Amino acid sequence: MTTAQRQVPPTTTSDRANAQAPRATTRFLTEALRAPHQIGAIAQSGPRLAAQAAGLLVPDGDPQTVVELGPGAGAITDVLHARMPAGSTLTSIEINTTMVAHLRETRPWLNVVHGDAIDLPALLRTAGLPPPDLIISALPWSIISTATQPRILAAITDAMHPNGTFATVATLPVRMLPSARRFRRHLHRSFGSVSQTRTVWRNVPPAHLYVCRSPSTRTALRAPTKR
Ligand SMILES: C[S@@+](CC[C@H](N)C(=O)[O-])C[C@H]1O[C@@H](n2cnc3c(N)ncnc32)[C@H](O)[C@@H]1O
Repeated sequence: MTTAQRQVPPTTTSDRANAQAPRATTRFLTEALRAPHQIGAIAQSGPRLAAQAAGLLVPDGDPQTVVELGPGAGAITDVLHARMPAGSTLTSIEINTTMVAHLRETRPWLNVVHGDAIDLPALLRTAGLPPPDLIISALPWSIISTATQPRILAAITDAMHPNGTFATVATLPVRMLPSARRFRRHLHRSFGSVSQTRTVWRNVPPAHLYVCRSPSTRTALRAPTKR
């Protein structure tokens, strides 16, 4: 089994995460400056935003298959891991090799897949995972090209469980950029339901999540739309 089943009590995980926090911050910032085209942010998600993401897990529910896209240095990863129902699996898919090495070194319990979110269905097949119940993304959509955004969203809707949830971080400063507006249109084309969490003003920068359900099928996506 290559997936990360929750094996340690939440307190142990958060204690470890706290101890690693300064190192993770340094790694993240260094990599953000070295590879801005991949990281797309200078600060990691804060604990309140991470808690919003973990709040989408069904507490004390059945084991869930959880996938994280763009875990970076693990800011959301640890909170998800701590809150997952027992027997759940967490798989983190990361494109940046330095972040992959950092996650593997600091989180031996985590199943880290080095890959591109655009290949999500194939990556999950290779890992032997069922369609995820929850996909959390902190992908830097505003620097992902207009052509690639819908391809990644199609990979997500293809891969996830039909009753599953996809949630993605959106930061306030880029909200009015044309690329962010296009992204919102793509989200509404890709999902039957798109809602928004309350803004976490104490995050740097302030941010919220788009929470998306009822993934459209490929056929529906190809159909002409009036939107
Ligand atoms: C803004 S950082 C978010 C890091 C962390 N999840 C957080 O919230 O602090 C975006 C992360 O997504 C990764 N990333 C960017 N494009 C990706 C892709 N196509 N597939 C997988 N990961 C990607 C980057 O390397 C980076 O680690």
